[in-house]
Amino acid sequence: MKKAKSPEESKAEMTVIMLPSDANPKGNVFGGVILKHVDLIAGLVAKRHAGHANAVTASIDRMTFLKPVFIGNALILSARLNYVRRSSMEVEVTVESEDLDDGTRVRTGTAFVTMVALDKYGKPTEVPPLLVQTEEEKARFREGERRMELRLKEAGKI
Ligand SMILES: CC(C)(COP(=O)(O)OP(=O)(O)OC[C@H]1O[C@@H](n2cnc3c(N)ncnc32)[C@H](O)[C@@H]1OP(=O)(O)O)[C@@H](O)C(=O)NCCC(=O)NCCS
Repeated sequence: MKKAKSPEESKAEMTVIMLPSDANPKGNVFGGVILKHVDLIAGLVAKRHAGHANAVTASIDRMTFLKPVFIGNALILSARLNYVRRSSMEVEVTVESEDLDDGTRVRTGTAFVTMVALDKYGKPTEVPPLLVQTEEEKARFREGERRMELRLKEAGKI
């Protein structure tokens, strides 16, 4: 079995300024642009954990956009691993937007992304177990496991 890695080793943050090409004519950023960045950072976290393996997106749970994001806002994404099975990993991505004129920040939403590690032949491959030590990490792991079961049931996988 591979050596376990902690969620701290793979977590990531990313800040992106929203440009006119990211938004509709009224200045509202497209949900799809936000999802693209969610997918990117989840892939980065999964790749850090998986090491040499490739990592692809198997699913993104429903995401509700709680507040609008506008051109000129900074989109701030924070991502960390909650749960790891054999080849699959649940990454939690929190999205905030910051008004750079007055510094106020609001939470835009949270997404749970399942990434799957693939070997050089494109087949799902084992990743290191997740080393959960703190009570918070253990609770996140249990909740991630519960969500994964629901997800796999919905997908008809179990
Ligand atoms: C994700 C993918 C590799 C799964 O392949 P598969 O043939 O179903 O393989 P398996 O049934 O052996 O599942 C492999 C792992 O994926 C997980 N998985 C499969 N479908 C899933 C889903 N809908 N949601 C969450 N996890 C899923 C399985 O639980 C398993 O995890 P485990 O090894 O940790 O137990 C395959 O569906 C795929 O390649 N999809 C396209 C991925 C992609 O290119 N995404 C980018 C956008 S197109």
